[in-house]
Amino acid sequence: MSNSNIQIFDTTLRDGEQVPGCKLNTEQKVVIAKQLENLGVDVIEAGFPVSSPGDFKSVEEISKIIKNATVCGLTRSVKNDIKVAAEALKYAKRPRIHTGIGTSDSHIQFKFKSNREDILQRAYDAVKYAKSFVEDVEFYAEDAGRTDNDYLARVCEVAIKAGATVLNIPDTTGYCLPSEYGAKMKYLMENVKGIEKAILSCHCHNDLGLATANSIEGVINGARQIECTINGIGERAGNTALEEVVMILKQHPYLNLDTNINTQYLYGISQLVSDSMAIYTQPNKAIVGANAFAHSSGIHQDGVIKNRETYEIIDPKDVGVTESAIVLTARSGRAALAYRAKNIGYELTKLQLDDIYANFLNFADQKKEIDDTDIHHIIETSKVYKEIISA
Ligand code: KIV
Ligand code: ZN
Repeated sequence: MSNSNIQIFDTTLRDGEQVPGCKLNTEQKVVIAKQLENLGVDVIEAGFPVSSPGDFKSVEEISKIIKNATVCGLTRSVKNDIKVAAEALKYAKRPRIHTGIGTSDSHIQFKFKSNREDILQRAYDAVKYAKSFVEDVEFYAEDAGRTDNDYLARVCEVAIKAGATVLNIPDTTGYCLPSEYGAKMKYLMENVKGIEKAILSCHCHNDLGLATANSIEGVINGARQIECTINGIGERAGNTALEEVVMILKQHPYLNLDTNINTQYLYGISQLVSDSMAIYTQPNKAIVGANAFAHSSGIHQDGVIKNRETYEIIDPKDVGVTESAIVLTARSGRAALAYRAKNIGYELTKLQLDDIYANFLNFADQKKEIDDTDIHHIIETSKVYKEIISA
């Protein structure tokens, strides 16, 4: 792995699947896991094996079929969780145990009714025990976003001492500003003894709509893994959206950070996840929403028809969308109407277009969106129809 390579850790099947009502069965999880592997993710977090027999089975089945990606199972810092995860991962070619504990004062005081020294010991013991089963152990400091940096650095040091290969710094509550999250990563890169033995990982939640921005700041400041989900699904407001961070790094090559993702599969897998979980993707969702490459105002349509790049920073084909859409509404102009009419076989002169455009506006004021059948109707009922078909 070169120093500019950002590992993509997909947690659609674990953190993503925590969305209420979106539970998947093992067969559905296996289908998604195979597509994640084709997409080129580096790590698939397949589940939380101790949580239910179904999740155990899913992790086990995914471990059997995945050949190139690392397969990961989540645990708490509890011996039995770790033992069960190791068992579920026993067929994996590249198994990883993801263990950890809450490190913010609020988690230590209210969740564990404990103290900082005890948490350090529990973190050490969990990683050490996980290491007795697998080489690759990722440690998460839950609520790291609200953990003070000095203490977080000590937690990271003990996890490294116990053998952690990856240190996950979750902004569990989606609280951090990008500048704070970036500064946290920089602080850890500069202050954790032994940091060269592990990589830092970004795990951001979207409660304030900052998950993607925070993850990007994290990698700019030294992290080398991003944890994310397809379509940004996940607890509450969701996780970092995989398609967003991947395309940000691709569209900004001067950052000199790249991923192993085959971006042409992004749209397909977005549809697969949304269909399997019956969770609708908002139309204006970046990269994969239905309107991400649709243009409906006259000014934008005129520009895009002349040259796509006037209003698009991504070629839709790069993310698996066949082409940009010119959507006809009452806000559309002549250029868009002529373009869509041409697509269905009408080559209109300027005068014919003027006549038809007036009909079109009347029609479009009644209807939200004009489709190809409507265009045929508008043209066939126009004064210039005979002229058009005899040309
Ligand atoms: O958000 C979080 O802190 C998590 C951890 C369990 C990794 O999902
Ligand atoms: Zn999470």
